Amino acid sequence: MAANYNNSAWFYDSLAKLVYGRTLINAQVYLLQFVSPDANILIAGGGTGWILEELTHIYRSGLTITYVEVAANMMALSRKRNVGANQVNFITDAIENVALPGGFDVIITPFLFDNFTDKTLQKVFKHLHSQLKPGGLWLNTHFQLTGKWWQNLLLKTMFAFFKLVCHIEASALPDIEKQFVQNNYSVVIQKTFFGEFITAKTYRK
Ligand SMILES: C[S@@+](CC[C@H](N)C(=O)[O-])C[C@H]1O[C@@H](n2cnc3c(N)ncnc32)[C@H](O)[C@@H]1O
Repeated sequence: MAANYNNSAWFYDSLAKLVYGRTLINAQVYLLQFVSPDANILIAGGGTGWILEELTHIYRSGLTITYVEVAANMMALSRKRNVGANQVNFITDAIENVALPGGFDVIITPFLFDNFTDKTLQKVFKHLHSQLKPGGLWLNTHFQLTGKWWQNLLLKTMFAFFKLVCHIEASALPDIEKQFVQNNYSVVIQKTFFGEFITAKTYRK
């Protein structure tokens, strides 16, 4: 069964804050410094859409955003966000099923890949890669294991919980970094959060 975050839409942000405080937000907002005015942005897996309001804090207008989220309940919350005078095209579907014109300046994948198997990751990555213009920036955040015992415990707990509630397909993190390396991306900036459990990177194609 494919993952379905619908069930978690009403509590997702509160649970994330309970466990991580503002860290998941800070990690994503840290990367938004790379969004230039008038950018054409693709966001995949934006959840409840708070990132739209963070982008609007930076630019009240001029952004063109394609916002793709597969869970209808997450999308319903996202549509209520204040996006200022920015243009947002909301698409409720799995990103890999959406035919887009490509040529995006920026792609944002905030904790999208963590729940995928390596097979799904490869498919979704390939699709997103084809959408980014040469020299474009990819803002990616995900969980990682750097050898601390509690990271593994927390990760296993998250996988067990989201498998039960949202039927996520993975039981372990896929090799996310490898996709960027194999496709010759260069790292522009990187920062870790929450005892290195979270990594935020901006890549250039
Ligand atoms: C772990 S949540 C992260 C949500 C949000 N980015 C945040 O940090 O609060 C992953 C989100 O990606 C969405 N998602 C999962 N697979 C997707 C896909 N193939 N295409 C688009 N969205 C997807 C889920 O519905 C969920 O809202």
